[in-house]
Amino acid sequence: MRQSAWCLSFLALSLLLAVHVFHYDAVAFDSLDPTGNITIKWDVMQWTGDGYQATVTLYNWQLYRHIDSPGWVLGWTWAKKEIIWNMVGAQATDQGDCSKVTGGTIPHSCAPSPQIVDLLPGVPYSQQTANCCRGGVLSAFAQDPSNSVASFIIIVGRSGNTNTSVVLPKKFTLAGPGPGYTCSAATKVPKTRFLSPDRRRTTLALMLNKVVHLCLCSDMEPCIYSQTQAQKAPSCCVSFSAFYNSTIVPCPKCACDCPTNGTNVALADTTNQLCIDRNDPHPVLPTSKSTGIVAPDMLYCTQDMCPVKIHWHVKVNYQEYWRVKLTITNRDLSRNFSLWNMVAQHPNFRNFTEAFSFSYKPLNPYGPSSNNSALFWGVKFYNDMLMQGGPDGNVQSEILFRKDSLFTLASGWAFPHRILFNGDECVLPEPDQYPSLPSGTIVPRVGILVLLVVVIFALAALL
Ligand SMILES: *[C@@H]1O[C@H](CO)[C@@H](O)[C@H](O)[C@H]1NC(C)=O
Ligand SMILES: *[C@@H]1O[C@H](CO)[C@@H](O)[C@H](O)[C@H]1NC(C)=O
Ligand SMILES: *[C@@H]1O[C@H](CO)[C@@H](O)[C@H](O)[C@H]1NC(C)=O
Ligand SMILES: *[C@@H]1O[C@H](CO)[C@@H](O)[C@H](O)[C@H]1NC(C)=O
Ligand SMILES: *[C@@H]1O[C@H](CO)[C@@H](O)[C@H](O)[C@H]1NC(C)=O
Ligand SMILES: *[C@@H]1O[C@H](CO)[C@@H](O)[C@H](O)[C@H]1NC(C)=O
Ligand SMILES: *[C@@H]1O[C@H](CO)[C@@H](O)[C@H](O)[C@H]1NC(C)=O
Repeated sequence: MRQSAWCLSFLALSLLLAVHVFHYDAVAFDSLDPTGNITIKWDVMQWTGDGYQATVTLYNWQLYRHIDSPGWVLGWTWAKKEIIWNMVGAQATDQGDCSKVTGGTIPHSCAPSPQIVDLLPGVPYSQQTANCCRGGVLSAFAQDPSNSVASFIIIVGRSGNTNTSVVLPKKFTLAGPGPGYTCSAATKVPKTRFLSPDRRRTTLALMLNKVVHLCLCSDMEPCIYSQTQAQKAPSCCVSFSAFYNSTIVPCPKCACDCPTNGTNVALADTTNQLCIDRNDPHPVLPTSKSTGIVAPDMLYCTQDMCPVKIHWHVKVNYQEYWRVKLTITNRDLSRNFSLWNMVAQHPNFRNFTEAFSFSYKPLNPYGPSSNNSALFWGVKFYNDMLMQGGPDGNVQSEILFRKDSLFTLASGWAFPHRILFNGDECVLPEPDQYPSLPSGTIVPRVGILVLLVVVIFALAALL
């Protein structure tokens, strides 16, 4: 009986996921970041007794999608029976079966498909490399280019040590964390690919120049993210309001999930998303009965069940400018969003003027004339961390646009076309729900006109 119930709910879940896949197919190609990808370089720097030493570098070229804690996990499958003698700046999660390796030295990992993770900050200097040891966190390129690169050194054994005997690893995978990235196959690329204006890569190229005859440069074709692939339901939604209408247009119902009926219940071992009553002054975070771990992503109960809500309030209409108040609210009681970012698309971003208390950068993937979107993120040490749900769980800004010729408060023009939070699409209200101008703004004029006409006719009739 229980089993069939499980089967049914699994079926329902699969159906739901399938629907989401359909719904989010368009997201795989992101028009605001058309070339967004993570590229991995595997540079053989030196031959060793039975293999080589390589520097592996991850470049996050994605403009606004970062890899958050607990960080990236890079995996591959060795083409032969290679082993990892040693690593600096990262580590394999599994040592695998090294029993067949003789000779006294114990390899770092003999797993046929090793999984590599970054080290945590503060490891001894001898275990560090340039761009390592940030716990796997990789910033988005547009937000913080200096922290969008990670690298580690790997000493490979049993691979052969000539450029013809070495075979590139296969089936690269990247978790960021969790699914979402698809990597294409690695290819050997000519050394000249390394000569780029990028400072870091120039350094590498210089090193390679010294060991030219040893160089086997491989460039993995990039790993590309898709929300479809991640099979992720939306995780944020948008609500609207405007100074000219007291109605607040809320996030759509069930935008991310539907509220479950049991609120504030000590959670059994279930994956159902339960939620916590916001009015409960002492909410008890449910814990799993078997593991004692606090349920992840515990949310306040809302009709949309989105962990993050973005509110766009059209606040002031000046002579030449207009002003929007942005509020990002975290309703997840068990999660802080460090390095959060938000993308907004609106035609008036071409004439965007200023953001107060948020950092800001125009996004113009198709040249300056197309910048109708902007990336926002927190000011370091001030609001770059969106705190867990509760009184401090929000960040706010006001943004100022210079009116362009299209400006109007009518027909919801002042509301954004797209909003993304940490690179994922947010669910917007239906267009017919946007706060509308009070009909009263037109009626008086019509009223006066009608009155005038009546008066004129009355006068004409009298005369
Ligand atoms: C990956 O990103 C880099 C930097 O934006 C770009 O030059 C390259 O063409 C991208 N690759 C793909 C396949 O989009
Ligand atoms: C391999 O190395 C030799 C010299 O060590 C060089 O002549 C040859 O071009 C290299 N081949 C490739 C594919 O890099
Ligand atoms: C939720 O609970 C209320 C009252 O306990 C009940 O009236 C309602 O039908 C329930 N809804 C669902 C979907 O189970
Ligand atoms: C969020 O950050 C605050 C302050 O750094 C910390 O006290 C809190 O435990 C963090 N919450 C979670 C869920 O990590
Ligand atoms: C549009 O992009 C260009 C080039 O990045 C930038 O100079 C300009 O300030 C942007 N316009 C606005 C309004 O942000
Ligand atoms: C708005 O931006 C467009 C394109 O950048 C420019 O041609 C126009 O003059 C700007 N309008 C105002 C009022 O600044
Ligand atoms: C405010 O906007 C809502 C939604 O469009 C609309 O139904 C309502 O009539 C508006 N209120 C006023 C006072 O115009």
